Amino acid sequence: MDMLELARQALQSAYAPYSHFPVAAVVRGGSGRLYAGCNVENAAYPLGCCAETAAIAAMVMGGETRIIEVAVLGQGGQLITPCGGCRQRLREFAAPDTPVHLCGPEGIRRTVTLGELLPLAFGPEQLP
Ligand code: THU
Repeated sequence: MDMLELARQALQSAYAPYSHFPVAAVVRGGSGRLYAGCNVENAAYPLGCCAETAAIAAMVMGGETRIIEVAVLGQGGQLITPCGGCRQRLREFAAPDTPVHLCGPEGIRRTVTLGELLPLAFGPEQLP
């Protein structure tokens, strides 16, 4: 199964009763394996979880700590981009040149790098 197909499947699981804005994310680990996540909202709004965060958690649970490719899928006409917090969460496991595919239901709309999304990022290498 490819990233987009898995993302489309994950989008069906999105729990977004408050925003009505379902999102899916898929990360490819260093092994090549794919891990999917969807957004999971909460009645206490700030406790909601982004799709990227869920996909990262699935990857770590699967025993991997390196991301080599990312896809984010939303519905509608606007280009979906990861929120600031998720850019930093991705940065923990991905490099500045890691491709991030910004997708709509019809496919990839634009591909950027994580470095473009989060320039001059603070990463784990900077800690002693
Ligand atoms: N959301 C994501 O899951 N990922 C993104 O890249 C952008 C936003 C979610 C959070 C919230 O559940 C909904 O979209 C509206 O902000």
